[in-house]
Amino acid sequence: MSNHLILDLYTELATNPDKNFGWDTGLQNARNHGYKEAWIEALPEEIWSYCAAVGNPFNAGELHEGDSILDIGCGAGVDLCVASLLVGDSGNVFGVDVTPAMVEKAKYHAAIAGLSNITVYEGSFDRPPIGDGAVDIVISNGAINLAGSKEVVFSEIYRVLTNGGYLYFSDMIKDENNLEEICCSKDSWANCVAGTLKSDDLIQLLEAAGFVDAKLLSTNHYKTSSSTVGATFSARKP
Ligand SMILES: C[S@@+](CC[C@H](N)C(=O)[O-])C[C@H]1O[C@@H](n2cnc3c(N)ncnc32)[C@H](O)[C@@H]1O
Repeated sequence: MSNHLILDLYTELATNPDKNFGWDTGLQNARNHGYKEAWIEALPEEIWSYCAAVGNPFNAGELHEGDSILDIGCGAGVDLCVASLLVGDSGNVFGVDVTPAMVEKAKYHAAIAGLSNITVYEGSFDRPPIGDGAVDIVISNGAINLAGSKEVVFSEIYRVLTNGGYLYFSDMIKDENNLEEICCSKDSWANCVAGTLKSDDLIQLLEAAGFVDAKLLSTNHYKTSSSTVGATFSARKP
């Protein structure tokens, strides 16, 4: 994995969201993943151009009024804004992203949406600046495959979750119908291809980190290459 390739690619996405990256982005992408029209109408249109979702983690389980949520690899903050609508003024939403331009966009988007319960940190999901047991739910969308060590990321998610808290995430995984096509150009890690795992391997890593009820809920239409497919998972901290 090359960190500068990740920073370069996601700085480009943060500054030029309409560019063709070879994978779906934008409002139509959100609609294709079933993001609700009520959320789309409730947020300024420009925010939706930055939707790089590879699935819909909000289908994995409910966010409740008053919950504290952490989004790791939050990008330009689309899911932070949706989470904020769902938890309301009595809830809190935290985002962590390693790309400074994404962090700036996420803060700007929270501000133009008038959502004051969102806090965005620049940092790595290897060590999110969040206290032990501080959040009820961790969400993530298209980011965990970019981690060099998924073990570290899952143990950090476990650390920040309260007992009984949930992880709901969408990510790219290996398409087991097309394993021969595994690629690898030098920037395919940053493009959500080379860092992907098979769903069973991800579930094993979640269990090794201490999670229970770890499961693949669904796969979807999203592709970053012929050898990958979008998927949504849930897991619970006992
Ligand atoms: C495909 S984008 C998805 C963004 C957002 N979740 C969305 O759905 O629009 C992946 C994001 O992961 C972030 N990322 C990559 N490596 C990271 C790391 N080590 N720690 C935190 N964020 C990271 C990138 O900066 C980028 O914003």
